[in-house]
Amino acid sequence: MKNILPIGVALAILFGRGLARGQDFEGVSVCRKCHIDQAESWAQTSHAKAFESLKPKVKADAKQKGKLDPNKDYTADAACVGCHTTGFGNPGGFSVSTPASEHKNFAVVGCESCHGAGAKFRVEHGNAEERWKTGKGETARETLVKLGQNFDYKTACATCHLNYEGSGFAGAHPPFKVFTPALDPKYAFDYDKEVLRSGPGTGVHEHFKLKNVFIGEPVPAIRGQLQADAKDPD
Ligand code: HEC
Ligand code: HEC
Ligand code: HEC
Ligand code: HEC
Repeated sequence: MKNILPIGVALAILFGRGLARGQDFEGVSVCRKCHIDQAESWAQTSHAKAFESLKPKVKADAKQKGKLDPNKDYTADAACVGCHTTGFGNPGGFSVSTPASEHKNFAVVGCESCHGAGAKFRVEHGNAEERWKTGKGETARETLVKLGQNFDYKTACATCHLNYEGSGFAGAHPPFKVFTPALDPKYAFDYDKEVLRSGPGTGVHEHFKLKNVFIGEPVPAIRGQLQADAKDPD
């Protein structure tokens, strides 16, 4: 029996999933269940429509300026989808074979593009909600980081907006962004400015008051300012 793998390991190999599985992407609809205010506002940002730009004849003038073919369908092009969808190439994330019925969840720059793949941390969000209701216990934000939640928004934005040669972003690697400041200065990206803008036509959803169920570091540097101006939840 010595050569036989433990059943768990064997199954994991068979199904191509390591025992220490990657953090899976869940899609917008899962986050929306509890965060409807943010989801409705996000739907009015450019990120919710990012996949549309890859379709033929959409934004034809911009494409021509970027030396792209305005009549070409770029929706299955690996040189494009990484930045115009959620979680491309990662477990649970967008793939070129994602059925159209799932496009509203993944063929968008969704919640998890900024907040991290949610399969693990969203469970902790649910637990924390229960704890909050019963008034028993608090949850450290550190726990969320271990479960894949991202609080480093500056790097998240950079992965797409500064991913081109000469941007100053150390992590830049191909495929690069097409619409860069070399093409038109309007494509420059200023994190400090953009992260504080929110609502329709911007990059970020509007902000709603938190009860602070989660405590401790890392608290995003912008949190205090954004929460001071945040709306009451509906
Ligand atoms: C079962 C309900 C539930 C689901 C599903 C859920 N959350 Fe949450 N989330 C919560 C609760 C409750 C809080 C704490 C809110 C508060 O403090 O007022 C929270 C807090 C947050 C926060 C703020 C954390 C902090 O620093 O205080 C972010 C960001 C967030 N959620 C994003 C997401 C994303 C992205 C998803 C989808 C992957 C998601 N949530 C799924 C219930 C949920
Ligand atoms: C997964 C890649 C990705 C991430 C992460 C990302 N963006 Fe974007 N963003 C895009 C794409 C793609 C567009 C273009 C949408 C379109 O028109 O097709 C865009 C558009 C925008 C726009 C609108 C630009 C305009 O003039 O219309 C703003 C503002 C913006 N993003 C800000 C941000 C900020 C701030 C962050 C981080 C908190 C961020 N983005 C994170 C991919 C991303
Ligand atoms: C590294 C990330 C990245 C890659 C790769 C990428 N894009 Fe984008 N794309 C962006 C971002 C970010 C924006 C928003 C730029 C802005 O408005 O500042 C954008 C904007 C656009 C726009 C809108 C431009 C406008 O003026 O409205 C189109 C069209 C577009 N991309 C098509 C493509 C196509 C086609 C490909 C593949 C050939 C591609 N992109 C590859 C990140 C990327
Ligand atoms: C372009 C990046 C980006 C996307 C996409 C995004 N968020 Fe956020 N989100 C932020 C930033 C930046 C903050 C403010 C930072 C903070 O206070 O933690 C934030 C804050 C939050 C908060 C804390 C309370 C608040 O309103 O500020 C929740 C909850 C949240 N987002 C949920 C979501 C959900 C759900 C989605 C998808 C429907 C989503 N986010 C999509 C960037 C993003």
